[in-house]
Amino acid sequence: MRIGSILENQKIEKRVAITPEIVKKYTSLGLEVCLVENYASHLGIKDNSYKEMGVKFLNDEKEILNSSEIIVQLGMLSEDKTSSIKENQTIIGVLNPYTNKEKLEILAKKKINLFSLELLPRITRAQSMDILSSQANLAGYKAVIESFANFEKAIPMMMTAAGTVPAAKVLVVGAGVAGLQAIATAKRMGAIVFATDVRMASKEQVESLGGKFLTVEGSENLETEGGYAKEASEEFKQKQEDLLSETLKKIDIVICTALIPGKKAPLIIKDSMIQNMQSGSIIYDLAAIQGGNTAFTEADKVIEKNGIKIMGESNILNKLPVSASNLYAKNVFNFVDNLISKESKKININLEDEIIQKTLIK
Ligand code: NAI
Repeated sequence: MRIGSILENQKIEKRVAITPEIVKKYTSLGLEVCLVENYASHLGIKDNSYKEMGVKFLNDEKEILNSSEIIVQLGMLSEDKTSSIKENQTIIGVLNPYTNKEKLEILAKKKINLFSLELLPRITRAQSMDILSSQANLAGYKAVIESFANFEKAIPMMMTAAGTVPAAKVLVVGAGVAGLQAIATAKRMGAIVFATDVRMASKEQVESLGGKFLTVEGSENLETEGGYAKEASEEFKQKQEDLLSETLKKIDIVICTALIPGKKAPLIIKDSMIQNMQSGSIIYDLAAIQGGNTAFTEADKVIEKNGIKIMGESNILNKLPVSASNLYAKNVFNFVDNLISKESKKININLEDEIIQKTLIK
C-alpha cells in the first residue's frame, strides 16, 4: 500500500503532513511513502533527508494522488486535485467539514473515504492523534510571543537602582488548550495572568498554572458532554461584559482564544471595552479566522484603535511550521496506525471504533 502527500497551497499553509522522522514508522506498517519533489524544502528539509528514509519522489502530483491508497494533507485539496481521486482511496486531513460541506459530500458520494481530524473525539485513546490539541498548544505559545514582541514595555517586574518596572498584566479569554498554554507561557515570562472561560472545569486548571480565574457571577457551567463550550445566554454575555469591562482597564495584553465548534467565534471584547483600555495595550486574537473575539479583529492585519493594537493571523502555525509539522505528522501517523488492521495490513473502516466513526465524513 502507498501513502502519499503533495504540496499544500503555499500561500496559506507552510506545514507538511509527513516529516522524515515519521517515514520509518509508516514503512514498518508496510506502507510505501511517496512525496512530490521539494515537498518540505521551504522548511529547510531537503528531499535527501526523506530519500535516506526510503521515500519515493515523483514530480507529478496527479500520479501521487492517483496511485496512493492513503493521501495525507493539512487542508482540503482543491477541486482540480480531487477530480481524479477514485472509490476506496482515503484522504486524511483537516478537511474543515463546516466550510467544505458540499465539496465533501460530492467526494463521499464517490465512495472516497474522508477522515477529518478536527472531528476526533476528546477521549484518552485519541490523545496521541489529537491535532486540535497539538496545534492549539503551539498557537497559544506563539500568540504570547507575538504579542509580547509588539508590546513596548517590559513584561516581568524589575527592581533596579533607577526604579521599579511593573510586571505586565495579561488576560487570557478562553482557557482551553491554547489558552492554558498562553497562561503558562505568559507566567514563565513574568507576567501577572488573569483568565476567564464559560466552562467551570477550567478554573482549577487556570489556578494550577498560577493564573487568577475571573468567574462570571451567578453563571451556570456552559460545558457540553464532549467538554466543549456551549453558546452563552444573553444574560451571561451581559455579566461577562460587565466583569471584563472593569478588568480591561488595568490589562496590558489580551490573548483571545474563545471558540465554539462549528460556529462563528463569540464577540466578547466590544468597542466600548476597547475604548476603556490603556493606550499601548495589545489584543492578540487567536479566533481571528473564525470571525474574532473582538469587534475589530481582521485576520493578518494590525488594527489600531485609540493606540491599542488588535492583531490576529489566519494561520499562526505558519510562524512555527517545523514544530507544528513534527507534531501534526505524529498525530496523523497514530491515526493511520489505528486505521490499518494489524492482521490484514489493509485499511479497516471499523465503525464500532469511535475514533473512526466520528472522523469519517458520510
Ligand atoms: P476550543 O478551542 O473549542 O475553545 C477554546 C476555549 O474557549 C474553550 O475553553 C471554551 O470553553 C472557551 N470559550 C468559548 N466561548 C467562550 C466565551 N463566550 N467566553 C469565554 N470562553 C469561551 O476548546 P479546546 O481548547 O479545543 O478545548 C475544548 C475541551 O476539550 C476542553 O475542555 C479541553 O480540556 C478538552 N480536551 C480534552 C482532551 C482529552 O483528550 N480528554 C484533549 C484536549 C482537550
